[in-house]
Amino acid sequence: MMSPERRTRGRTSRSRLQALDVYLCRAEAELLGRQEGPWSEAAFIDVGFGEHPWTTLESAEAFRALNPTLSVTGVEADAGRAAAAAASHEEARTHFRHGGFDWASGAGERARLVRAMNILRQYRPEDVEAAHAELGRALLPGGLLVEGSTDTQGGITVAYLLRRGPEALEREALLFHTDFGQGFAPLLFRDWLPRDWRRHVRPGEALHGFFTAWTEAWSEAREQGAREPRDSFRESARGLARAWPGVSTEPWLLENGYLRWQPAGGVPRPSR
Ligand SMILES: C[S@@+](CC[C@H](N)C(=O)[O-])C[C@H]1O[C@@H](n2cnc3c(N)ncnc32)[C@H](O)[C@@H]1O
Repeated sequence: MMSPERRTRGRTSRSRLQALDVYLCRAEAELLGRQEGPWSEAAFIDVGFGEHPWTTLESAEAFRALNPTLSVTGVEADAGRAAAAAASHEEARTHFRHGGFDWASGAGERARLVRAMNILRQYRPEDVEAAHAELGRALLPGGLLVEGSTDTQGGITVAYLLRRGPEALEREALLFHTDFGQGFAPLLFRDWLPRDWRRHVRPGEALHGFFTAWTEAWSEAREQGAREPRDSFRESARGLARAWPGVSTEPWLLENGYLRWQPAGGVPRPSR
């Protein structure tokens, strides 16, 4: 079990996770809105919300447009931050508490969505697998764990989408998003990869092949006239999808700066 006792700066910012909210409201509307049986009480859990619960509250508002009675709980390893958030923002269906990756407080507590963004950067790569298992343990079957990193303002995001399957947590997809604030090249994402992949994109690794293919597709798109960041992103994603299995070409994703890679056997792990 991971200790929730470590003290970190808790840096966060308003709208930092908005691109994820927008993605989830579109791609996971059914998951967010389900009400049958245990789903009626299944919460959205935001683990490690930081110094202020801004992103938790923003997501609560976005998700409640699809599910007005959704329970939302922010969990923090820092007891002072949890108490301050509870004192200012606790409501009938919005709660904050001190806790860690094993966030479920009772045997019956269940979640539909667990988010842990910008947390594991502070951990060791070898801790990631156990952290995922703990974070996802109390998801209902079909529930989703979103874990990854963004830059400080949320202009660049890379996140794992991990789904609770019949046996275990499945490494369903890797989601990339940019708001084009820094222009666009595939390598922009490398510094924001999830903790286990960061600094492990080396020749011979699956993600190295992925980024090489994406960069080639990007160069080709630019040579063919796609010079604006949005155009080179969209056209490079289409080129990548032709070369690399599992890349979604859904127009809404590509028009809005999202690339979802969903390989058939699950997102590979780096070799060590
Ligand atoms: C950088 S902030 C991220 C805030 C917010 N999620 C965001 O993306 O802006 C990281 C927070 O995670 C908390 N944290 C670290 N390890 C944790 C754990 N095991 N369980 C719960 N919170 C944790 C820290 O106390 C810190 O407040």
